[in-house]
Amino acid sequence: MSKRVLSGIRATGQLHLGNYLGAVSGMLALQDSSEYETLYMVADAHAITTPYDVNQLRRQRREIIIDYLAAGLDPQKSILFCQADIPYHFELAFYFASVTTVAKMQHLPTFKEKVKQYPNFTSLALLNYPVLQAADILLYQGELVPVGIDQEPHLEVARNIARKMNQDYGTNFPEPQRFATKGEYIPSLTGEGKMSKSVAGSYILLTDDLDTIRKKVRSVPTATEVGGKMSRGVEVLFTLLNFFAPEKHTAFLEKFAGGTLKYVELKDTVAQAIYQELEPFQAKRQEILSDPQYVDQIIAEGTEKALVIAQDTIQEVKQKIGLAG
Ligand code: TRP
Repeated sequence: MSKRVLSGIRATGQLHLGNYLGAVSGMLALQDSSEYETLYMVADAHAITTPYDVNQLRRQRREIIIDYLAAGLDPQKSILFCQADIPYHFELAFYFASVTTVAKMQHLPTFKEKVKQYPNFTSLALLNYPVLQAADILLYQGELVPVGIDQEPHLEVARNIARKMNQDYGTNFPEPQRFATKGEYIPSLTGEGKMSKSVAGSYILLTDDLDTIRKKVRSVPTATEVGGKMSRGVEVLFTLLNFFAPEKHTAFLEKFAGGTLKYVELKDTVAQAIYQELEPFQAKRQEILSDPQYVDQIIAEGTEKALVIAQDTIQEVKQKIGLAG
C-alpha cells in the first residue's frame, strides 16, 4: 500500500508566500509522486481555537480549497476536503486527549505564543490544538506531512500520541515525519520573525497585484549596518530574490559587496519576480471563482473519499480501546 500524506492550512485568512513556499510547494511535490496517496484539508475547526468571525470563516474555508486548486493541487491526484466535514477528526481527538497530559500541552511554544496574543481567552480548544492536529494526520495513517518548520513541535506531539496508542492499545499508527521544503522558513517583510497571517505588514498574499507587492517590498527596512554587514531586512530581500529570481542573485550580491547596490532596484526586481510567479495562480483562481459548482463538486467528492478512510481508522480504534465490540 502506498504511504499516505496529509497536510492542512488553518482557515484564518488568505494564503501568503510563506504558506505557498512552505506548505503548498511540498503538497504539490508529493501529489506528483506515485509513491504517495495525498490528502490535503482545510483546517477549519482549528480556526475556532482563537477568536474569529463566523461569516469570515464560512467564506474562508471555501477560499482555501479554491487556493489549493489554483496553486495546482489536482482533485484527480489528491483528496481535497474540509476538516469539519469529517466529524471523525473530533472523535479521534477526544480519544487522543485521553493519552495526553495537560502539562505537556501547556508547555508547547505554539500554545504559549497564542496565550500571549490572546491573554483573555485561552480556551480548552486552544490547549487541544495539537491533539486535534495529531488526529487529522493519524485518522488517515499519515506518514509524511508537508508543513513549515514551525510545525515541528506539533508533529512531535503526533508521534508521541501514535507511540502511546500503539503501546497501550495495540493500534498500528505510523509516526509521522515532516516533509521539509526549501521554503520551510520564509522571513517576515518587517525583518523580524517569520511571515505570518497574524502579523500585519509581514506578508505578501498570493492574490496581491503588482502595485501592492511593490509597495510591500519597498517597505522592507534597509538601514545600513556598521561595517557593511547585511541588515535583517536586506537579508529578507536576498532570500526572496533567491526564491523568485535565483539567476539574479549573484549579480546583486556583488553590487552589495562593492557598495554600489541601489535598494530600490533590488526591491523592484524582487517585487516583479514575485508577481510573475503569482500571475498564473491569480488567473486560474479567477477562472475557478466563476464556477462555484465545480468547487462544490470537488469538496463533495473529497469528503466522500476521506470519510471512507476515516471510518476504518475509527472503527479499529474504538474496538481497541474498549468502546466497541
Ligand atoms: N497547525 C497547522 C498550521 O498552523 C495547520 C494544520 C492543522 C495542519 N492540522 C494539520 C498541518 C494537519 C498539517 C497536518 O499550519
